[in-house]
Amino acid sequence: MLTEAELVLEGERMGKALAPGAVVYLQGELGAGKTTMARAIARGLGVTEPASSPTYALVHRYAGRRGPVFHLDCYRLKRPEESADVDWEGLAAEGDALLIEWPERAAGWAPAATLRMQLSHRSDPAVRGLDVG
Ligand SMILES: Nc1ncnc2c1ncn2[C@@H]1O[C@H](COP(=O)(O)OP(=O)(O)OP(=O)(O)O)[C@@H](O)[C@H]1O
Ligand SMILES: [Mg+2]
Repeated sequence: MLTEAELVLEGERMGKALAPGAVVYLQGELGAGKTTMARAIARGLGVTEPASSPTYALVHRYAGRRGPVFHLDCYRLKRPEESADVDWEGLAAEGDALLIEWPERAAGWAPAATLRMQLSHRSDPAVRGLDVG
């Protein structure tokens, strides 16, 4: 179990160690910490710009140390086919990393994961479970 500070440190550490071209699936319930983790990984990859965007977008692009870091949030997809407009191959080819929240909602379209992170709520609202596989 990890506090938010611990989870962020862990994400930054993982980001620093990530191989080029990594596809990271971030899974877990609403509020489990997927975005928090994605931002920490992005920082570990050298992203320095603020990661908040007021308007919803499926794909966010950030400049990392080695190349672009793409952060995708598939939550709003009602059906995986709605992600057909995403240039998945282009993102995978160009990206130093793809960080994908709710990847199950783009099943069959998103590239296969090279790393999966499963975040979960615990009875203590200040901590989260993290399984990496
Ligand atoms: N130990 C913890 N680790 C991560 N986040 C925590 C922790 N404790 C509290 N939080 C809070 O939980 C919230 C997690 O929100 P976050 O947006 O990262 O979740 P999410 O999984 O991306 O949700 P969504 O499914 O809506 O995209 C944040 O407000 C964060 O401050
Ligand atoms: Mg999120």
